[in-house]
Amino acid sequence: MKILAIETSCDETACAIVEDGTKILSNVVASSKQMHEKYFGIVPEVAAREQLKSIIPVLTEALSGSNLESIDALAVTIGPGLIGSLLVGVETAKTIAFVTGKPIIPVNHVLAHMYANFVRDERNNNQQLTTNNLTIKQFNNKTIEYPAISLVVSGGHTELYLMKSVKELIWLGGTLDDAAGECFDKTARLLGFGHGGGVAIERASRSEVSLREKAKLHLPRPMINDESYNFSFSGLKTAVMRECKKHLELKGSDPLATVASGDRSVRRSETGSDPVKTSFAYEIQEAITDVLVKKTLRAAKQYNARSILLSGGVAANLRLREKFLAKLQTNDLTKLSLHVPPVPLCTDNAVYIASYAFFRGKPSDWHSIDATPDLPVEV
Ligand code: KG4
Ligand code: ZN
Repeated sequence: MKILAIETSCDETACAIVEDGTKILSNVVASSKQMHEKYFGIVPEVAAREQLKSIIPVLTEALSGSNLESIDALAVTIGPGLIGSLLVGVETAKTIAFVTGKPIIPVNHVLAHMYANFVRDERNNNQQLTTNNLTIKQFNNKTIEYPAISLVVSGGHTELYLMKSVKELIWLGGTLDDAAGECFDKTARLLGFGHGGGVAIERASRSEVSLREKAKLHLPRPMINDESYNFSFSGLKTAVMRECKKHLELKGSDPLATVASGDRSVRRSETGSDPVKTSFAYEIQEAITDVLVKKTLRAAKQYNARSILLSGGVAANLRLREKFLAKLQTNDLTKLSLHVPPVPLCTDNAVYIASYAFFRGKPSDWHSIDATPDLPVEV
């Protein structure tokens, strides 16, 4: 079954064709990320306009190797997301469904992220990443055994699910305030790294400064020992702000001080060679990943899970993958297998939208499909 999927929930315009939920036939993504950089965050109006400009070229490219007649169904993200952006994808998909009479499947963006783990990506299969003496293989082609614990970590969500089968999901807990990705983004901005923070923090945390220097700073691990499976990262962001201010009082001339004082004219730097910025970046990444790993493993133990699935933009983080891998090599966890999509399938794309639609979606009458910005993620 060939599904043509459309994803426009935020600042990416994406279309893909996937066969039987696993085989990528085409995958096209256009992003307006760079246009938002000067505004220190995504501007919904700009994102929506870019969606409008990109949707037809992206759709045309995704369909260039096939024709519309060979498509069995359409899938489209209906939420959660930005209303202006969502409307572009939803109305495009509804129009195609109306004109062709093909079935259309509405998709929840956050739930769909985890289905990136079900996709075979031949191009990225042999990729091996070696960091800190650990070799991280691509895990996405291992068979997923159930029950599984699925952690979705994106810009707007940090959600934990129990997966009893490919279809059966139970929400265990999630974002109370800032999501993990949002915390990466906001603290990166505080440090002057600009938009797209997670990647910049990861890069800076790896730069050539001694581990002792990096570990000078200690930040909180919010809710790490809390009994629920909820997450809260706004306190971590506030702690970073407080530490930045402390630094300002000690060393008024440091560029970091200008950021902490709220001066937006600060020159952005992504070099990370500044030891202070490096230690901030290092500790922010350690704090976020510690919380994610600990709570996910606790859920895995509680539900006797046989697999752990990571997904969402933050799952691209190598330190997160590395920490999970290291933990799974210890005594009582060796039976758990880790599944992580290749990096390009962690961040927003339409491949996992099609995969979700195949495994878990239900076709609906196109009249009843609406863009739903606050679509719940608790199932
Ligand atoms: O899933 P995604 O592409 O979009 C949403 O659905 O939100 O996730 C975007 C988030 C951003 O917050 C970005 O900073 C974060 O994923 N991200 C990373 C990395 N790559 C992207 N966070 C940490 N390390 C990375 N390498
Ligand atoms: Zn996403």
